[in-house]
Amino acid sequence: MAAAISSSPSHAAPGFPVRRLRRLRRTPALRRLVAEARLGVDDLIAPLFVREGIDSPVPIASMAGQSQHTVDSLVVEAKRLVSLGIPGVILFGVPTRKDAEGTEAWDSDGIVQLALRSLRNAVGDDLVLMADLCLDEYTDHGHCGVLGPNGEVLNDPTLEFYQRIALAQAGAGADVVAPSGMMDGQVAAIRDALDGGGADQVAILAYASKYASALYGPFRDAVDVTIAGGGDRRAYQQDPHNGREALLEIAQDVAEGADMIMVKPAMTSLDVLAAARQSVRVPLAAFHVSGEYAMVKAAAAAGWIDGPAVAMEQLVALKRAGADFILTYFAAEVAEALGG
Ligand code: PBG
Repeated sequence: MAAAISSSPSHAAPGFPVRRLRRLRRTPALRRLVAEARLGVDDLIAPLFVREGIDSPVPIASMAGQSQHTVDSLVVEAKRLVSLGIPGVILFGVPTRKDAEGTEAWDSDGIVQLALRSLRNAVGDDLVLMADLCLDEYTDHGHCGVLGPNGEVLNDPTLEFYQRIALAQAGAGADVVAPSGMMDGQVAAIRDALDGGGADQVAILAYASKYASALYGPFRDAVDVTIAGGGDRRAYQQDPHNGREALLEIAQDVAEGADMIMVKPAMTSLDVLAAARQSVRVPLAAFHVSGEYAMVKAAAAAGWIDGPAVAMEQLVALKRAGADFILTYFAAEVAEALGG
């Protein structure tokens, strides 16, 4: 007696029925219904650059579609992001004056502080205002901390500077400060400073697992950073060979009081993201960095890939791996594509 409906393709071995997984892929509506990961406009944080001493925005050659903003053009862009439904931005400053200690980073009239005040005035609470908290954009040697006599980046003395920056950013209206320097103890030190300085409502998004990556290249153009003497950040950012160490970094930042944690770069950290999703209860972010953006843009410009499709595929993969939200230079483009 022939089976009326076979449960498996005709070539399946007897006793090994093959589940027909393609049934649920047949139509767009079916695929939509069973989608496990979803990317929405609420998942997107837009990184923005603001530069001191310019009269009009300066396009960043290695990051097609991105610019160094004036405070005025930054405000215009922020309003556009609000209208697209994007919930937040993260700010990076480019000062005119750099020095050994990066003093412009915590000057109350430093460029990021000016920008934060203007943004708050312009958009109120419609946008979560995050500020990258680091020294590299502000130091003349380009490192994320202050240097010792042999050119090494000093850990504990740097923490005092991070505390000053946190207070300056909080005073200017940041909702969230995001320490990215990878000094040990930076989250605890910043939390202490904020709590002691009347800013206990300001949250910390810790760059918890941050690898020493060549994918930050275009970003360094965007913020005019060159590391002195052809140096690198391998003595403080993580070695890409290590995954378990990333989980130690993350656990430590959570224990120190991080409100949210971030993993960076994104596509080369999917293992870390997936593991962190299992062990961490605070919101988890991924930073799809400048080099990841630039590669997609460049290949698309050459006609080699469908840029928007690849961007979407990568961002969805980050959600699937466990990210709650994503910092991405594609934020506005994706929001437009999603019909925001
Ligand atoms: C440090 C910082 C960097 C990035 C974010 N914060 C650069 C670095 O660590 O060298 C990289 C972001 C990107 O590449 O998009 N302030």
